[in-house]
Amino acid sequence: MSPDSRGSFRTSGAAYDGFMGRYSGLLAAPFADFAEVEDGQVAVDVGCGPGALTGELVGRLGAGNVSACDPSPSFVAACRQRHPGVDVHEAAAEELPFADASTDRVLAQLVLHFVDRPDRVAEEFRRVLRPGGVAAASVWHFAEGMEMLRLFWDAALAIDPQAPDEARTLRFGRPGQIAGLLVDHGFSDVHEDAITVSSTYADIDELWHGFLAGVGPAGGYLVGRPEDQQEQVRAELVERLGAPSGAFTLDATALCARGRAGG
Ligand SMILES: C[S@@+](CC[C@H](N)C(=O)[O-])C[C@H]1O[C@@H](n2cnc3c(N)ncnc32)[C@H](O)[C@@H]1O
Repeated sequence: MSPDSRGSFRTSGAAYDGFMGRYSGLLAAPFADFAEVEDGQVAVDVGCGPGALTGELVGRLGAGNVSACDPSPSFVAACRQRHPGVDVHEAAAEELPFADASTDRVLAQLVLHFVDRPDRVAEEFRRVLRPGGVAAASVWHFAEGMEMLRLFWDAALAIDPQAPDEARTLRFGRPGQIAGLLVDHGFSDVHEDAITVSSTYADIDELWHGFLAGVGPAGGYLVGRPEDQQEQVRAELVERLGAPSGAFTLDATALCARGRAGG
């Protein structure tokens, strides 16, 4: 994780909810279906954030059968508070604090693009899975499928051609990339799919406040700009959205891949 993205996830759970949690909360159930999470299993939520997917896993498996980890102290605190009984650790995906062959499912929702060493993470997934267990990961389709971030980065690039567009700076946001990682690390039955969710905003201010909360690469970039540039980005974004006078809905498509550990 770059120092920049590390800092931008040290926000509160509430700030995250208004920005990305509004999408990840909707993604959690179809992503858990995709990972074939079913009663009777134990599961790990890697990069849990404040716990959007953790909650879905608790609903399916019971809190005692769910573990989670994230390197952000504020998100770990939020996840613990929201999901009592879940074993939540402050740890990165590269060094999972779980025993060998200890879980049936490892899920990483919207995390893989932030890790420094994806090969190491794939090895860790394999290590903690029981034989036949499933690893699943999802990442937004940055270039084409995540309207909120696409709109933001296109507006930012119009003002600042050096803006660090996530479609350019982050990995695993294109078809085949997550599946390729799983294949390279010996997973079998590798399957990829896309899941689309939608979020409705009451107005432009609601969308803009999400960015101003400083969460993730987009929010972190925006709050680091001078105020006049922030206003220019906002004006550009409003124009690209067609200057809606009231509510509007944005779609977000996540690329998902799953694979089975051998044994
Ligand atoms: C977009 S959020 C996703 C959070 C949650 N999974 C969700 O769906 O709402 C990305 C998360 O990845 C975490 N993260 C960043 N680098 C990580 C790493 N190396 N290992 C595990 N998690 C990491 C961040 O702290 C943040 O909580």
